[in-house]
Amino acid sequence: MTEKLKIACIGAGSAGTGHMVRMEKYLPGSCVAFSDVDRSKFDKIVAGYLGEGNMALAGDLKSEPFELSRSFRDLPYYPNPAEMLQREDINTVIIASYCSHHAEAVALCVRHGVNILLEKPIAITEADVCKVWTLLRDYQKVATVNFSLRGSPVAESARRHIRNGDIGRIVSVQFVNNVHYGDIYFRAWMRTRKNVGSLLLQKGTHDLDLINYFIGLKPEAVAAFGSRQVYGGDMPDDLTCDVCDRKMTCTMSIYRRKLDAGKPLLPPELRRCVYAREIDIDDNQVLAIKYEGGVTASYSQTFNAPFSGGQRGGYFIGTEGILELRLYGEFEEHPTTGAYVKGTSTIRITRFNDKPGSSLFETHDWADVGHMGSSEYLAEGFLKLLQGGESSINANVRDGYISAMMCLAADRSIETGQTVKLNLDI
Ligand SMILES: NC(=O)c1ccc[n+]([C@@H]2O[C@H](COP(=O)([O-])OP(=O)(O)OC[C@H]3O[C@@H](n4cnc5c(N)ncnc54)[C@H](O)[C@@H]3O)[C@@H](O)[C@H]2O)c1
Repeated sequence: MTEKLKIACIGAGSAGTGHMVRMEKYLPGSCVAFSDVDRSKFDKIVAGYLGEGNMALAGDLKSEPFELSRSFRDLPYYPNPAEMLQREDINTVIIASYCSHHAEAVALCVRHGVNILLEKPIAITEADVCKVWTLLRDYQKVATVNFSLRGSPVAESARRHIRNGDIGRIVSVQFVNNVHYGDIYFRAWMRTRKNVGSLLLQKGTHDLDLINYFIGLKPEAVAAFGSRQVYGGDMPDDLTCDVCDRKMTCTMSIYRRKLDAGKPLLPPELRRCVYAREIDIDDNQVLAIKYEGGVTASYSQTFNAPFSGGQRGGYFIGTEGILELRLYGEFEEHPTTGAYVKGTSTIRITRFNDKPGSSLFETHDWADVGHMGSSEYLAEGFLKLLQGGESSINANVRDGYISAMMCLAADRSIETGQTVKLNLDI
């Protein structure tokens, strides 16, 4: 594609605005419009980039500092995405609205024949996941899914080692995600099934995609357990730490965490009570997965890890050795902004016939950038695809379909107590 990029976004919150700003960094003037049911997050995040507010709402997808044009805040805004696509000259759309809206947004974009960057998960019900897959499996334009761990240098290196056969043929995988910022999910819109389906679809989908991406095998069946142990309760849905009687005594209070642990206060939008009545999603899950050829994987996630106890990664066990991946190695937060001032990921490979003291060890530094440094590389990959080139790191819709179907199978297994076979239409 050689025509000028004219990019719009549906859902301009943390992720959507982050993507647009990053596109502007590489191709100033490429963003032409945005649509959101409420533009207030866009306005606050853009004010942060322009030095007129803080960056707390920009989230993990925030771009490294650069001179964003002041006119960016005046992009044409539409509450209705259909009207935006009707009126504006647009050839590329970033979809980053609530997950429950993705399928509808994809259908609209397909009607207009535009390139698509779709946030994960591709959708949250089986009907919608299949709808997105059907709409996009043979789509003639670019369509990618933003699995943001993929483009990180550490992930690329781990994948290369595994695909090169450095640990032999893959036998099994043991992967965990102990989320050390898990409370945030229970303070935001993501805390209900209606909005996200489950935290497997919201969070685990990244890790399952990473396992699939590394080992390149087709998943065949999933058995899972899950429950809610920590969050939810009988507090009012609109209660915030700011006005709560237990502001200084509750261990989950953002004020208590600042006092005891030195954690910066979360922005006002993320101060809702984690014991609210409406919370109905599980906060821990364990999966056993069978892949083709009898390869097995275990995956577990919990949303109650202490800050310094955050872990994401695992062991990839092959016929000739083990690769240990730690996405969070050493990391340290800035005391007031919360940005990672220090962050490393590591890979250690231990092989059978190496001397006992030998191993291959790599450290990958990602200080100051989100998602272990992946976002910039994924954005570059997306632009390459849009310009008719290739990018091996950007996930396609097939990858998004498989990962979402695995999450839905796990959710069904949790509900029914049965192992669920995956009948993937691929
Ligand atoms: N890949 C990643 O690492 C990553 C990280 C964060 C979020 N996400 C995904 O991005 C999406 C948005 O998450 P977020 O954290 O940016 O949330 P957010 O709340 O910051 O932004 C979502 C925006 O979508 C808008 N919206 C909701 N329903 C809409 C609709 N029907 N039409 C138009 N706009 C609508 C909201 O008003 C809000 O501004 C989700 O699908 C989430 O899973 C991905």
